[in-house]
Formats: sequence, C-alpha cells, structure tokens
Amino acid sequence: MHWCLPFRFLLTLLSSILALGDSGFAQLDGAPPSKIAIVGAGIGGTATAHFLRQHFGPEVHIDVFEKGTVGGRLATVTVNHQDYESGGSIIHSLNLHMQDFVKQLGLKYRKNVAGKTAVFNGEEFILEETDWYLLDLFRLWWRYGISFIRLQMWVEEIMEKFMRIYKYQGHGYAFSSVEELLHSLGGSGFLNMTHRSLSESLLELGVSQRFIDEVIAPVMRVNYGQNISIPAFVGAVSLAGAQANLWAVEGGNKLVCSGLLKLAKANLIQAQVTTISPHAAGESTQYQLNYATLTEKGSEFYDIVVVATPLQSSVGSGISFQGFEPQLPDIAGSYHHTVASIVHGYLNCSYFGFPDPKLFPFASVLTTDSPGLFFNSAASICPVNISTGFRRKQPQEAGVYKVFSPQPLDKPALKTLFRSYYSVQVTDWQAYPHYGSTQDLPPVVLHDSLYYLNGIEWAGSAMEMSSVAAKNIALLAYHRWSRQLEMVDQKDLMHKIKTEL
Ligand SMILES: Cc1cc2nc3c(=O)[nH]c(=O)nc-3n(C[C@H](O)[C@H](O)[C@H](O)COP(=O)(O)OP(=O)(O)OC[C@H]3O[C@@H](n4cnc5c(N)ncnc54)[C@H](O)[C@@H]3O)c2cc1C
Ligand SMILES: *[C@@H]1O[C@H](CO)[C@@H](O)[C@H](O)[C@H]1NC(C)=O
Ligand SMILES: *[C@@H]1O[C@H](CO)[C@@H](O)[C@H](O)[C@H]1NC(C)=O
Ligand SMILES: *[C@@H]1O[C@H](CO)[C@@H](O)[C@H](O)[C@H]1NC(C)=O
Ligand SMILES: *[C@@H]1O[C@H](CO)[C@@H](O)[C@H](O)[C@H]1NC(C)=O
Repeated sequence: MHWCLPFRFLLTLLSSILALGDSGFAQLDGAPPSKIAIVGAGIGGTATAHFLRQHFGPEVHIDVFEKGTVGGRLATVTVNHQDYESGGSIIHSLNLHMQDFVKQLGLKYRKNVAGKTAVFNGEEFILEETDWYLLDLFRLWWRYGISFIRLQMWVEEIMEKFMRIYKYQGHGYAFSSVEELLHSLGGSGFLNMTHRSLSESLLELGVSQRFIDEVIAPVMRVNYGQNISIPAFVGAVSLAGAQANLWAVEGGNKLVCSGLLKLAKANLIQAQVTTISPHAAGESTQYQLNYATLTEKGSEFYDIVVVATPLQSSVGSGISFQGFEPQLPDIAGSYHHTVASIVHGYLNCSYFGFPDPKLFPFASVLTTDSPGLFFNSAASICPVNISTGFRRKQPQEAGVYKVFSPQPLDKPALKTLFRSYYSVQVTDWQAYPHYGSTQDLPPVVLHDSLYYLNGIEWAGSAMEMSSVAAKNIALLAYHRWSRQLEMVDQKDLMHKIKTEL
C-alpha cells in the first residue's frame, strides 16, 4: 500500500485547488460563519478545529471548550520523572490522518522497543512468542492451521476498503451519518459488521473456535476490555491494531491535541459546557452555549457547534440540550470501564510459572477470557521519551508496568501480580463504548448546524476513527453551510473518483 501516501497527497492538493477555484469562502451564497464552538479538546475536537480552519479559512473565530485536560483520553502519568501513556497509546502505520498531524506539527515518532508477548489463561501460558519469526509462524500454523491465514486476509481486505475514506475525504466528500460513511466504504457488508458479533463472523469465515478463544479473545480484552461478542467491525479495528508497524508520538500522543489547537489558531476555553440551545437568527439558527468554570459562568452565541465528547448520560459530559423542537433524541448506550494501573515494581514471575525472574522472557502478557482472571493484560511499558540506548528493564529489576483490568486492583490482586511495588497510579477510564450487537449508530447531525462526533466510536473507537469523524464533520459543516449538497452522501464514489481524474 505504499502508493497510498504520495497518491493521497496529490489528491488532497488537487482537491484543495479545485475547492478554492469553484467556491472560495467569499463566494458562498450567504455570509461565512463568524463563530464556531467545539466541545471537547480530545483528538476528535482538536482535529475538528484544525479541519474547520482549513475549510472555512482564517477569518472564522473558533472556540474549543474543555472541562478537563487537553488530550482527553490521550493522557500520561509520571513515574520517577518519566511520563507513560495511560490512555490511547498505539497508532497503526496506515492511520493517515494521525500521520499527517504528526508531520505537520513537527512531532517525532516513537517506535516501540521490541518485547515478546504471551497469552496466559490464569494457570499457564498457552501461546508464547519466540525470537524466531519462522518458528512463531510454524507454531501458529501447527496449532491453528488455516485460521491464521484466513484471519490475516479478512483484516487486510477490511483495511483496504477502509482506506478509501482518505480518497473520498481528499476529494471533499462528506457523509451525514456513520451509516452512510461505512456504506460508501464497504457497502452493506460493513454495515452488517456493526451488528453481527465478531465470533459469529469469524466462525463463518472458517476460523476455528480454538483460535478465537486463544488469540482473538486476548486481543479484544487488551484493546477493548470486552469479549468476542463485540461487533465484527470494531473487532477488525482491534485486530488491525494487533499487527506490526505500530507507533506512538514522542513526548506523548496528547501533544497532537495541543499542537492541533495551536495550528488551528483556536481559542481554548477551560470550562464545562452546561447547556446548548437554539435561537432563530434570520433564516438560520444560532446556538447559545452556557458554560461554567469553578468560579464563573458565561454564555456565547455560535453559528456552528460540534460536540466532540460522548453524550451517553453515564459518561457525564454534563451537557443538556434545551429548547429544541422537537427534542433531540437521547443518545443510548453506555461506556465500558477499563482501569489502567501504572505500577512501578517487581513483577511476580512465580505467578506466571517462572520462579526465577531471570528466565521470564515476556514483556507483555495477554489473557484469555477465563473465569477468575482479574486482569485483562499486563505489560512492561516504555516512557514517552526514549533516549538512545534505552532498554527495557529485565523482569528481575524494578520496572514500570501497565495493567488493564475491569475493576480497580485491590491489595491482594496487586500482591499476586507484583512481588513488591513502589507506586501505583490508577486511572478509571470510561474507555470506549460498551458494545452490544443490537445498538444503532448515533446520529452525526443533531440539528441544522449542530454536529456530534463520537457516534463513530460505536463503529470502532480509536484515535484515527475520531480523526476520520473530525474531517468528515468539517467537510459536512462546510458543504451544508455553503449549500453544496452534491458533496454530501454521494453514491458510488469509487466510480465517481475514477472518472473525475
Ligand atoms: C485505556 C485506553 C486505551 C486505548 N488505547 C487506544 C490505542 O491504543 N489506540 C487508539 O487508537 N485508541 C485507543 N483508545 C481509544 C482512544 O483513546 C479514543 O478513541 C480517543 O482518544 C477518543 O478521542 P475523542 O476526542 O473522541 O474523545 P475524548 O478524548 O474523550 O475527548 C473528549 C473531551 O471532552 C471533554 N468534555 C466532556 N464534556 C465536556 C463539557 N461539557 N464541556 C467541555 N469539555 C467537555 C472531556 O474532558 C475530554 O477531554 C484507548 C482508550 C482508552 C481509554
Ligand atoms: C447484510 O445484511 C442484509 C440483511 O440481513 C443482507 O440482505 C445483505 O446481503 C448483507 N450484506 C452482505 C454483504 O453480507
Ligand atoms: C460477552 O460479555 C457479555 C456481557 O458484557 C455477555 O452478555 C456475553 O454472554 C459474553 N459472551 C461470551 C461469548 O462470553
Ligand atoms: C520529550 O519529547 C518531546 C517531543 O519530542 C520534547 O518536546 C520533550 O522536551 C522531551 N522531554 C524530555 C524530558 O526529554
Ligand atoms: C506470587 O505468586 C505466587 C504464585 O502464584 C504466590 O504464591 C505469591 O503469593 C505471589 N506473591 C508474592 C508477593 O510472591
């Protein structure tokens, strides 16, 4: 897929030239918007600010509200003067928006320091990575047969279809719903994948139950804290994230968010948005946002508003929508808790069947879905800044570990996993959707010029998914504002784009 990069670059260039040629901000058949608000300064909100600036030009005023910390679910904790990722940590090499951001912001890639992975079932390791790639392949083949190849092909095919989004977005096409977006990429097959369970889809593909239990389930547990009943689409996103070619941002992934805010020349307001209400303003609608800091309250009017934080009531954004006629629909569902514990200490290798820690060869431990297992994964982690000559700590040394678990680890649990420890830092995340199979995908357009970004997480929750949604909303808001509706929900884009060239 190497051609994708230069090719896409060319497309983006071409389409921005075309966009300027045939519309331009001054030629909209109404005034351009003067003020835009974005609620949430995670990767979704900050990427939206960046793309809105690109499409609406330098004049529009962009406010970004953040009640917590810029970065949201991209966050670090400090242990011993070094920072470690506690939320979203890995980025796939084909996540092209994230790559673009890092490039434009002059940030650096942090490659992972190699370390071996094994799968633990509560009693013993059932799968162990070795130093020798061919041996690993052979073992996978021996143990699971054709399953392994079938799975690889399935994931690649989905990735290849998903990559179409960059071409569509490069040509300026937008979608008014997550369903339309998915349908344009992979037809009804993609839509069905948001409703069918992963295990059902894989079994149908001919992947063996054993492979699903011993390989797929551990990957779902580490990435989404859930089991193989999650929908096939998010399952595929998760499996793509288990491939090689992963990276992260030096200094911490959250640097992308603060960088994008600056690049977009957006105005950060450290406050919680409490209500959003519509007000008729001539032919169009404006939105009044009320917001509060610890000490002050404020209120402001906007032409366009993008909500870039989950609206499920259990997540507690604290936003209420008032005065909408008819009322805005409730956003259903809930988010899944995953607790990230960053532990500085000595791993209890005996617990994993290695009485001599010097002989413990693994950096990451994944787990099967076995009753009684109290954690999803445990891994020795690298700081966000890796100096030359950095090496992982050996298991007999004190190191920094990240443990994901469904509940906070109590003392006995910590004493089981660690011989002893110096510190434990706990983040209880409302991490990603709690996926059910019957869930409808939430809307993108809540009202005329009021948009919702985080519905895309119900197809798959990842930094790149929020970035794709950000670009889509910026394009959608732009086309709807300038009434270029032929750029929204166009059918048969593959064909259209071929003939446009
Ligand atoms: C433990 C964990 C591991 C993960 N691992 C990965 C990974 O390896 N790779 C990957 O790609 N993804 C991963 N993810 C998912 C990824 O982190 C998220 O999909 C992504 O960061 C979501 O970004 P967002 O901007 O859409 O939402 P958020 O980051 O949640 O941003 C929303 C922001 O809105 C703010 N906010 C909420 N309400 C209000 C209000 N009323 N007023 C003002 N501000 C408000 C919040 O404080 C928050 O900062 C992981 C997530 C977790 C939790
Ligand atoms: C998706 O599901 C619908 C309804 O069940 C079915 O008609 C369609 O053929 C499915 N699409 C694919 C590609 O499997
Ligand atoms: C997966 O977890 C859900 C609850 O979150 C449960 O209802 C379902 O039965 C589980 N599926 C399997 C295959 O264990
Ligand atoms: C970590 O990396 C970032 C980005 O390259 C850099 O700005 C920062 O100064 C580094 N911090 C340390 C402690 O080296
Ligand atoms: C380590 O694991 C062993 C084996 O499960 C267990 O007996 C022991 O209590 C654990 N904790 C410590 C601190 O050694």
